[in-house]
Amino acid sequence: MTTRTRILTGITTTGTPHLGNYAGAIRPAIVASCDSNADSFYFLADYHALIKCDDPLRIQRSRLEIAATWLAGGLDVDRVTFYRQSDIPEIPELTWLLTCVAAKGLLNRAHAYKASVDKNVETGEDPDAGITMGLYSYPVLMAADILMFNAHKVPVGRDQIQHVEMARDIGQRFNHLFGQGKEFFTMPEALIEESVATLPGLDGRKMSKSYDNTIPLFSSAKEMKDAISRIVTDSRAPGEAKDPDNSHLFTLFQAFATPAQADEFRGELLQGLGWGEAKNRLFQLLDNELGESRERYQQLIERPADLEDILQHGAKKARAVATPFLQELREAVGLRSFVAQTQVAATTKKKAAKAARFVSFREDDGSFRFRLLAADGEQLLLSRNFADGKTAGQVTKQLQAGQPLDVRSEDLSFSVWLEGECVADSPAFADSAARDMAIDALRIALTPTQD
Ligand code: TRP
Repeated sequence: MTTRTRILTGITTTGTPHLGNYAGAIRPAIVASCDSNADSFYFLADYHALIKCDDPLRIQRSRLEIAATWLAGGLDVDRVTFYRQSDIPEIPELTWLLTCVAAKGLLNRAHAYKASVDKNVETGEDPDAGITMGLYSYPVLMAADILMFNAHKVPVGRDQIQHVEMARDIGQRFNHLFGQGKEFFTMPEALIEESVATLPGLDGRKMSKSYDNTIPLFSSAKEMKDAISRIVTDSRAPGEAKDPDNSHLFTLFQAFATPAQADEFRGELLQGLGWGEAKNRLFQLLDNELGESRERYQQLIERPADLEDILQHGAKKARAVATPFLQELREAVGLRSFVAQTQVAATTKKKAAKAARFVSFREDDGSFRFRLLAADGEQLLLSRNFADGKTAGQVTKQLQAGQPLDVRSEDLSFSVWLEGECVADSPAFADSAARDMAIDALRIALTPTQD
Protein backbone atom coordinates (compact mmCIF):
# COMPACT_ATOMS: atom_id res chain seq x y z
CA MET A 1 0.00 0.00 0.00
CA THR A 2 1.38 3.40 -0.85
CA THR A 3 0.68 6.11 1.65
CA ARG A 4 -0.43 9.35 0.13
CA THR A 5 1.13 12.62 1.15
CA ARG A 6 -1.14 14.47 3.48
CA ILE A 7 -1.16 18.17 2.69
CA LEU A 8 -2.87 20.46 5.15
CA THR A 9 -3.38 24.18 5.22
CA GLY A 10 -5.79 26.72 6.66
CA ILE A 11 -6.75 30.27 5.95
CA THR A 12 -7.67 32.65 8.75
CA THR A 13 -11.16 33.98 8.13
CA THR A 14 -10.83 37.67 8.84
CA GLY A 15 -11.13 39.24 5.41
CA THR A 16 -12.22 39.00 1.79
CA PRO A 17 -9.72 37.07 -0.32
CA HIS A 18 -7.83 39.23 -2.81
CA LEU A 19 -5.77 38.41 -5.86
CA GLY A 20 -2.65 37.86 -3.73
CA ASN A 21 -4.34 35.26 -1.49
CA TYR A 22 -5.63 33.50 -4.55
CA ALA A 23 -2.38 33.34 -6.51
CA GLY A 24 -0.19 32.74 -3.46
CA ALA A 25 -2.20 30.20 -1.48
CA ILE A 26 -5.55 29.07 -2.82
CA ARG A 27 -4.73 28.40 -6.45
CA PRO A 28 -1.51 26.41 -5.76
CA ALA A 29 -3.31 24.40 -3.07
CA ILE A 30 -6.08 23.50 -5.51
CA VAL A 31 -3.50 22.49 -8.10
CA ALA A 32 -1.64 20.37 -5.52
CA SER A 33 -4.86 18.61 -4.51
CA CYS A 34 -5.26 17.23 -8.04
CA ASP A 35 -2.12 15.10 -7.73
CA SER A 36 -3.21 11.48 -7.31
CA ASN A 37 -0.67 11.08 -4.52
CA ALA A 38 -2.11 13.98 -2.51
CA ASP A 39 -4.51 13.62 0.40
CA SER A 40 -5.48 17.23 1.04
CA PHE A 41 -7.00 18.74 4.16
CA TYR A 42 -7.97 22.37 3.63
CA PHE A 43 -9.85 24.34 6.20
CA LEU A 44 -11.13 27.71 7.34
CA ALA A 45 -9.14 28.71 10.41
CA ASP A 46 -12.05 30.45 12.09
CA TYR A 47 -10.87 29.85 15.66
CA HIS A 48 -7.68 31.63 14.66
CA ALA A 49 -9.82 34.44 13.25
CA LEU A 50 -11.25 35.12 16.73
CA ILE A 51 -7.75 35.96 17.92
CA LYS A 52 -7.44 38.80 15.44
CA CYS A 53 -10.98 40.03 15.10
CA ASP A 54 -13.83 40.73 17.53
CA ASP A 55 -16.37 41.72 14.91
CA PRO A 56 -18.85 38.82 14.59
CA LEU A 57 -20.31 40.06 11.31
CA ARG A 58 -16.93 40.25 9.71
CA ILE A 59 -16.06 36.72 10.88
CA GLN A 60 -19.35 35.42 9.54
CA ARG A 61 -18.94 37.16 6.19
CA SER A 62 -15.31 36.15 5.76
CA ARG A 63 -16.00 32.46 6.41
CA LEU A 64 -18.64 32.51 3.69
CA GLU A 65 -16.43 34.38 1.24
CA ILE A 66 -13.38 32.23 1.78
CA ALA A 67 -15.41 29.02 1.48
CA ALA A 68 -16.95 30.28 -1.77
CA THR A 69 -13.53 31.31 -3.08
CA TRP A 70 -12.09 27.82 -2.65
CA LEU A 71 -15.05 26.25 -4.40
CA ALA A 72 -15.26 28.84 -7.18
CA GLY A 73 -11.54 28.28 -7.76
CA GLY A 74 -12.32 24.66 -8.58
CA LEU A 75 -11.68 22.75 -5.35
CA ASP A 76 -13.15 19.26 -5.68
CA VAL A 77 -14.67 18.49 -2.29
CA ASP A 78 -15.00 14.80 -3.09
CA ARG A 79 -11.25 14.59 -3.52
CA VAL A 80 -10.19 16.67 -0.54
CA THR A 81 -11.36 17.15 3.02
CA PHE A 82 -12.65 20.70 3.24
CA TYR A 83 -13.95 21.92 6.61
CA ARG A 84 -14.23 24.68 9.17
CA GLN A 85 -11.84 24.38 12.11
CA SER A 86 -14.65 25.30 14.50
CA ASP A 87 -16.75 22.32 13.35
CA ILE A 88 -14.12 19.95 14.76
CA PRO A 89 -14.42 19.93 18.58
CA GLU A 90 -11.45 17.57 18.74
CA ILE A 91 -9.19 20.47 17.75
CA PRO A 92 -9.67 22.62 20.86
CA GLU A 93 -9.49 19.44 22.92
CA LEU A 94 -6.17 18.49 21.39
CA THR A 95 -5.06 22.09 21.85
CA TRP A 96 -5.41 21.60 25.58
CA LEU A 97 -3.46 18.34 25.62
CA LEU A 98 -0.70 20.09 23.69
CA THR A 99 -0.86 23.22 25.85
CA CYS A 100 0.02 21.01 28.81
CA VAL A 101 3.28 19.89 27.19
CA ALA A 102 4.20 23.06 25.28
CA ALA A 103 7.06 24.94 26.92
CA LYS A 104 6.17 28.50 27.82
CA GLY A 105 9.67 29.50 26.79
CA LEU A 106 8.97 28.20 23.30
CA LEU A 107 5.86 30.36 22.97
CA ASN A 108 7.69 33.38 24.34
CA ARG A 109 9.81 33.22 21.20
CA ALA A 110 6.91 33.33 18.72
CA HIS A 111 7.46 36.23 16.29
CA ALA A 112 3.91 37.55 16.34
CA TYR A 113 3.75 37.64 20.12
CA LYS A 114 7.24 39.09 20.44
CA ALA A 115 6.44 41.83 17.94
CA SER A 116 3.46 42.89 20.05
CA VAL A 117 5.55 42.96 23.21
CA ASP A 118 8.31 44.93 21.48
CA LYS A 119 5.81 47.46 20.27
CA ASN A 120 4.42 47.91 23.77
CA VAL A 121 7.88 48.35 25.22
CA GLU A 122 8.78 50.88 22.53
CA THR A 123 5.73 52.98 23.29
CA GLY A 124 6.33 52.79 27.03
CA GLU A 125 3.28 50.60 27.68
CA ASP A 126 3.08 47.58 29.92
CA PRO A 127 4.73 44.78 27.89
CA ASP A 128 1.53 42.72 27.91
CA ALA A 129 -0.87 45.56 27.10
CA GLY A 130 -3.57 44.38 24.73
CA ILE A 131 -2.09 40.89 24.39
CA THR A 132 -4.62 38.09 24.83
CA MET A 133 -3.96 34.50 25.76
CA GLY A 134 -5.34 33.73 22.31
CA LEU A 135 -2.47 35.56 20.64
CA TYR A 136 0.01 33.95 22.99
CA SER A 137 -1.31 30.43 22.43
CA TYR A 138 -1.86 30.89 18.71
CA PRO A 139 0.95 28.47 17.77
CA VAL A 140 -0.48 25.71 20.00
CA LEU A 141 -3.86 25.91 18.28
CA MET A 142 -2.07 25.78 14.96
CA ALA A 143 -0.05 22.78 16.14
CA ALA A 144 -3.32 21.03 16.97
CA ASP A 145 -4.65 21.79 13.46
CA ILE A 146 -1.60 20.17 11.95
CA LEU A 147 -0.97 17.27 14.34
CA MET A 148 -4.64 16.26 14.57
CA PHE A 149 -4.44 15.01 11.01
CA ASN A 150 -0.79 13.97 10.94
CA ALA A 151 -0.01 16.24 8.02
CA HIS A 152 3.24 15.63 6.15
CA LYS A 153 3.34 18.90 4.26
CA VAL A 154 1.99 22.26 5.34
CA PRO A 155 1.96 24.91 2.60
CA VAL A 156 2.34 28.30 4.28
CA GLY A 157 3.80 31.75 3.80
CA ARG A 158 7.25 32.50 5.17
CA ASP A 159 5.82 34.20 8.24
CA GLN A 160 4.30 30.85 9.31
CA ILE A 161 7.42 28.66 9.09
CA GLN A 162 8.18 29.19 12.76
CA HIS A 163 4.70 27.96 13.69
CA VAL A 164 5.18 24.73 11.78
CA GLU A 165 8.50 24.24 13.55
CA MET A 166 6.77 24.77 16.88
CA ALA A 167 4.20 22.14 15.91
CA ARG A 168 7.07 19.70 15.37
CA ASP A 169 8.59 20.62 18.69
CA ILE A 170 5.34 20.23 20.62
CA GLY A 171 4.41 17.02 18.80
CA GLN A 172 7.80 15.51 19.49
CA ARG A 173 7.50 16.33 23.13
CA PHE A 174 4.10 14.67 23.33
CA ASN A 175 5.42 11.59 21.51
CA HIS A 176 8.30 11.40 23.91
CA LEU A 177 6.21 11.79 27.06
CA PHE A 178 3.27 9.55 26.17
CA GLY A 179 4.20 7.50 23.11
CA GLN A 180 6.06 4.72 24.94
CA GLY A 181 8.03 4.14 21.80
CA LYS A 182 5.07 4.85 19.56
CA GLU A 183 5.10 8.01 17.45
CA PHE A 184 1.58 9.39 17.78
CA PHE A 185 2.33 12.43 15.68
CA THR A 186 3.95 12.70 12.29
CA MET A 187 6.52 15.48 12.07
CA PRO A 188 5.11 18.09 9.65
CA GLU A 189 7.17 20.08 7.19
CA ALA A 190 6.47 23.60 6.03
CA LEU A 191 6.12 23.82 2.28
CA ILE A 192 7.12 27.14 0.79
CA GLU A 193 6.20 27.37 -2.86
CA GLU A 194 9.21 29.12 -4.34
CA SER A 195 7.54 29.36 -7.73
CA VAL A 196 4.60 31.34 -6.35
CA ALA A 197 6.44 34.53 -5.64
CA THR A 198 4.54 36.80 -3.32
CA LEU A 199 2.27 38.88 -5.48
CA PRO A 200 3.01 42.62 -5.41
CA GLY A 201 0.18 45.01 -4.63
CA LEU A 202 -0.78 48.29 -6.31
CA ASP A 203 2.24 50.09 -4.84
CA GLY A 204 4.75 47.29 -5.45
CA ARG A 205 4.95 46.13 -1.85
CA LYS A 206 3.59 42.67 -0.98
CA MET A 207 -0.16 42.61 -1.70
CA SER A 208 -1.75 42.77 1.71
CA LYS A 209 -4.88 44.15 3.27
CA SER A 210 -2.78 45.86 5.91
CA TYR A 211 -1.06 47.93 3.18
CA ASP A 212 -4.38 48.76 1.52
CA ASN A 213 -2.85 47.89 -1.85
CA THR A 214 -4.94 44.89 -2.89
CA ILE A 215 -6.72 43.99 -6.11
CA PRO A 216 -10.09 42.38 -5.40
CA LEU A 217 -10.58 38.85 -6.65
CA PHE A 218 -14.24 38.02 -7.22
CA SER A 219 -15.99 41.35 -6.78
CA SER A 220 -17.31 43.04 -9.95
CA ALA A 221 -15.28 43.53 -13.12
CA LYS A 222 -15.59 47.25 -12.57
CA GLU A 223 -14.00 47.10 -9.14
CA MET A 224 -11.15 45.06 -10.52
CA LYS A 225 -10.68 47.57 -13.33
CA ASP A 226 -10.66 50.49 -10.88
CA ALA A 227 -8.02 48.84 -8.73
CA ILE A 228 -5.83 48.08 -11.76
CA SER A 229 -6.02 51.72 -12.83
CA ARG A 230 -4.41 52.63 -9.51
CA ILE A 231 -1.32 50.43 -10.03
CA VAL A 232 1.73 52.64 -9.55
CA THR A 233 4.04 52.79 -12.59
CA ASP A 234 7.06 54.89 -13.52
CA SER A 235 6.61 58.05 -15.54
CA ARG A 236 7.80 56.80 -18.91
CA ALA A 237 5.57 58.08 -21.67
CA PRO A 238 3.93 55.95 -24.38
CA GLY A 239 6.57 55.14 -27.00
CA GLU A 240 9.37 54.98 -24.43
CA ALA A 241 10.75 51.51 -23.70
CA LYS A 242 9.55 50.07 -20.36
CA ASP A 243 11.56 47.78 -18.11
CA PRO A 244 9.36 44.67 -17.49
CA ASP A 245 11.70 43.27 -14.84
CA ASN A 246 11.25 46.34 -12.71
CA SER A 247 7.54 46.64 -13.21
CA HIS A 248 5.17 45.06 -10.70
CA LEU A 249 2.43 45.46 -13.26
CA PHE A 250 4.36 42.96 -15.35
CA THR A 251 4.86 40.66 -12.34
CA LEU A 252 1.11 40.65 -11.79
CA PHE A 253 0.53 39.88 -15.46
CA GLN A 254 3.04 37.05 -15.38
CA ALA A 255 1.32 35.41 -12.41
CA PHE A 256 -1.79 34.77 -14.51
CA ALA A 257 -0.35 34.42 -18.02
CA THR A 258 1.00 31.49 -19.97
CA PRO A 259 4.72 31.84 -20.72
CA ALA A 260 3.84 32.72 -24.32
CA GLN A 261 1.44 35.47 -23.22
CA ALA A 262 4.04 36.83 -20.81
CA ASP A 263 6.71 36.88 -23.54
CA GLU A 264 4.46 38.76 -25.88
CA PHE A 265 3.59 41.33 -23.23
CA ARG A 266 7.25 41.74 -22.34
CA GLY A 267 8.05 42.47 -25.99
CA GLU A 268 5.33 45.08 -26.22
CA LEU A 269 6.53 46.85 -23.09
CA LEU A 270 10.07 46.93 -24.40
CA GLN A 271 8.73 48.49 -27.57
CA GLY A 272 7.07 51.31 -25.70
CA LEU A 273 3.51 50.17 -24.95
CA GLY A 274 1.87 52.94 -22.89
CA TRP A 275 1.04 52.21 -19.24
CA GLY A 276 -2.66 52.93 -19.81
CA GLU A 277 -2.80 50.30 -22.51
CA ALA A 278 -0.70 47.94 -20.39
CA LYS A 279 -3.31 48.21 -17.65
CA ASN A 280 -6.01 47.33 -20.14
CA ARG A 281 -4.09 44.22 -21.13
CA LEU A 282 -3.74 43.18 -17.52
CA PHE A 283 -7.45 43.68 -16.94
CA GLN A 284 -8.32 41.63 -20.03
CA LEU A 285 -6.07 38.82 -18.92
CA LEU A 286 -7.48 38.71 -15.40
CA ASP A 287 -11.02 38.99 -16.62
CA ASN A 288 -10.47 36.05 -18.98
CA GLU A 289 -8.80 33.98 -16.30
CA LEU A 290 -11.19 34.77 -13.48
CA GLY A 291 -14.47 35.75 -15.14
CA GLU A 292 -16.04 32.31 -14.96
CA SER A 293 -14.91 31.69 -11.42
CA ARG A 294 -16.33 35.08 -10.48
CA GLU A 295 -19.75 33.99 -11.70
CA ARG A 296 -19.53 30.72 -9.81
CA TYR A 297 -18.49 32.69 -6.74
CA GLN A 298 -21.50 34.98 -6.96
CA GLN A 299 -23.82 31.99 -7.29
CA LEU A 300 -22.25 30.24 -4.30
CA ILE A 301 -22.47 33.32 -2.10
CA GLU A 302 -26.17 33.49 -2.88
CA ARG A 303 -26.69 29.91 -1.67
CA PRO A 304 -25.26 29.83 1.84
CA ALA A 305 -27.33 26.76 2.72
CA ASP A 306 -25.52 24.76 0.05
CA LEU A 307 -22.18 25.95 1.35
CA GLU A 308 -23.26 24.96 4.84
CA ASP A 309 -24.06 21.43 3.62
CA ILE A 310 -20.72 21.10 1.88
CA LEU A 311 -18.84 22.17 4.99
CA GLN A 312 -20.88 19.91 7.28
CA HIS A 313 -20.05 17.04 5.00
CA GLY A 314 -16.36 18.01 5.18
CA ALA A 315 -16.52 18.17 8.97
CA LYS A 316 -17.89 14.63 9.02
CA LYS A 317 -14.99 13.40 6.93
CA ALA A 318 -12.46 15.20 9.11
CA ARG A 319 -14.02 13.93 12.31
CA ALA A 320 -13.92 10.37 11.05
CA VAL A 321 -10.16 10.79 11.40
CA ALA A 322 -10.06 13.07 14.44
CA THR A 323 -12.48 11.32 16.81
CA PRO A 324 -10.75 7.92 17.06
CA PHE A 325 -7.31 9.53 17.07
CA LEU A 326 -8.19 11.87 19.92
CA GLN A 327 -9.60 8.91 21.84
CA GLU A 328 -6.21 7.25 21.55
CA LEU A 329 -4.47 10.40 22.77
CA ARG A 330 -6.84 10.72 25.73
CA GLU A 331 -5.98 7.15 26.68
CA ALA A 332 -2.30 7.89 26.37
CA VAL A 333 -2.37 10.79 28.84
CA GLY A 334 -4.49 8.86 31.32
CA LEU A 335 -7.98 10.19 30.57
CA ARG A 336 -9.40 6.69 30.55
CA SER A 337 -12.68 5.06 31.35
CA PHE A 338 -12.64 3.60 34.87
CA VAL A 339 -13.84 0.32 33.47
CA ALA A 340 -11.16 0.08 30.83
CA GLN A 341 -8.52 1.25 33.28
CA THR A 342 -8.43 -1.86 35.49
CA GLN A 343 -8.16 -3.95 32.37
CA VAL A 344 -5.27 -1.91 31.08
CA ALA A 345 -3.52 -2.09 34.43
CA ALA A 346 -4.01 -5.85 34.57
CA THR A 347 -2.63 -6.44 31.10
CA THR A 348 0.34 -4.15 31.66
CA LYS A 349 1.03 -6.03 34.84
CA LYS A 350 0.95 -9.36 33.10
CA LYS A 351 3.11 -8.16 30.28
CA ALA A 352 5.65 -6.61 32.59
CA ALA A 353 5.80 -9.69 34.77
CA LYS A 354 6.11 -12.01 31.83
CA ALA A 355 8.79 -9.99 30.20
CA ALA A 356 10.93 -9.09 33.21
CA ARG A 357 13.71 -11.58 33.73
CA PHE A 358 16.52 -12.50 36.08
CA VAL A 359 19.95 -13.03 34.57
CA SER A 360 22.58 -14.58 36.82
CA PHE A 361 26.29 -14.50 36.32
CA ARG A 362 29.53 -15.16 38.09
CA GLU A 363 32.14 -12.56 39.04
CA ASP A 364 35.88 -13.07 38.55
CA ASP A 365 36.28 -13.57 42.29
CA GLY A 366 33.93 -16.57 42.10
CA SER A 367 30.93 -14.91 43.73
CA PHE A 368 27.42 -15.19 42.27
CA ARG A 369 25.21 -12.26 41.28
CA PHE A 370 22.09 -11.56 39.22
CA ARG A 371 20.44 -8.73 37.41
CA LEU A 372 16.71 -8.08 37.04
CA LEU A 373 15.95 -6.69 33.60
CA ALA A 374 12.65 -5.02 32.68
CA ALA A 375 10.70 -5.85 29.52
CA ASP A 376 12.61 -3.24 27.52
CA GLY A 377 15.97 -4.58 28.73
CA GLU A 378 16.47 -1.75 31.19
CA GLN A 379 18.25 -2.88 34.35
CA LEU A 380 16.03 -2.62 37.40
CA LEU A 381 18.32 -4.30 39.91
CA LEU A 382 21.86 -5.55 40.32
CA SER A 383 22.28 -7.92 43.22
CA ARG A 384 24.97 -7.87 45.86
CA ASN A 385 27.57 -10.68 45.73
CA PHE A 386 26.63 -14.12 47.05
CA ALA A 387 29.07 -16.81 48.04
CA ASP A 388 27.30 -19.55 46.12
CA GLY A 389 24.74 -20.00 43.37
CA LYS A 390 22.23 -21.59 45.69
CA THR A 391 21.94 -18.50 47.90
CA ALA A 392 21.61 -16.27 44.85
CA GLY A 393 18.85 -18.55 43.53
CA GLN A 394 16.98 -18.47 46.83
CA VAL A 395 17.04 -14.69 46.86
CA THR A 396 15.51 -14.47 43.37
CA LYS A 397 12.80 -16.97 44.45
CA GLN A 398 12.00 -14.98 47.56
CA LEU A 399 11.77 -11.77 45.57
CA GLN A 400 9.15 -13.39 43.34
CA ALA A 401 7.18 -14.98 46.17
CA GLY A 402 4.70 -12.12 46.31
CA GLN A 403 5.72 -10.91 49.76
CA PRO A 404 5.59 -7.14 50.35
CA LEU A 405 8.82 -5.73 48.95
CA ASP A 406 11.14 -3.81 51.23
CA VAL A 407 12.33 -1.06 48.88
CA ARG A 408 14.39 1.80 50.27
CA SER A 409 15.09 4.96 48.27
CA GLU A 410 18.39 6.75 48.62
CA ASP A 411 18.83 9.90 46.57
CA LEU A 412 18.33 8.92 42.96
CA SER A 413 18.56 5.16 43.41
CA PHE A 414 16.96 2.52 45.60
CA SER A 415 17.81 -0.83 47.14
CA VAL A 416 15.87 -3.96 47.96
CA TRP A 417 16.11 -5.61 51.35
CA LEU A 418 15.27 -9.11 52.57
CA GLU A 419 15.20 -9.94 56.27
CA GLY A 420 17.12 -6.82 57.21
CA GLU A 421 19.81 -7.30 54.63
CA CYS A 422 20.37 -5.40 51.41
CA VAL A 423 20.30 -7.88 48.54
CA ALA A 424 20.24 -5.68 45.44
CA ASP A 425 20.57 -2.10 44.20
CA SER A 426 19.09 -0.09 41.36
CA PRO A 427 21.16 2.02 39.03
CA ALA A 428 21.11 5.82 39.56
CA PHE A 429 18.24 7.59 37.80
CA ALA A 430 18.10 11.02 36.20
CA ASP A 431 15.60 12.33 38.74
CA SER A 432 13.38 11.19 41.54
CA ALA A 433 10.39 10.81 39.21
CA ALA A 434 12.34 8.34 37.07
CA ARG A 435 13.41 6.53 40.22
CA ASP A 436 9.83 6.23 41.45
CA MET A 437 8.69 4.99 38.06
CA ALA A 438 11.35 2.29 38.20
CA ILE A 439 10.16 1.27 41.66
CA ASP A 440 6.64 0.89 40.27
CA ALA A 441 8.00 -1.14 37.37
CA LEU A 442 9.88 -3.32 39.82
CA ARG A 443 6.79 -3.98 41.92
CA ILE A 444 4.80 -4.89 38.81
CA ALA A 445 7.58 -7.10 37.53
CA LEU A 446 7.76 -8.99 40.82
CA THR A 447 4.02 -9.47 41.24
CA PRO A 448 3.17 -13.10 40.57
CA THR A 449 0.68 -13.57 37.72
CA GLN A 450 -2.38 -15.78 37.93
CA ASP A 451 -1.58 -17.82 34.86
N1 TRP B 1 -1.87 30.80 10.87
C1 TRP B 1 -2.13 30.60 9.47
C2 TRP B 1 -2.08 31.95 8.76
O1 TRP B 1 -2.41 32.95 9.33
C3 TRP B 1 -3.46 29.94 9.24
C4 TRP B 1 -3.47 28.60 9.84
C5 TRP B 1 -4.10 28.21 10.98
C6 TRP B 1 -2.79 27.47 9.33
N2 TRP B 1 -3.87 26.90 11.23
C7 TRP B 1 -3.07 26.40 10.25
C8 TRP B 1 -1.98 27.25 8.22
C9 TRP B 1 -2.54 25.13 10.05
C10 TRP B 1 -1.46 25.97 8.04
C11 TRP B 1 -1.73 24.93 8.95
O2 TRP B 1 -1.70 31.98 7.60
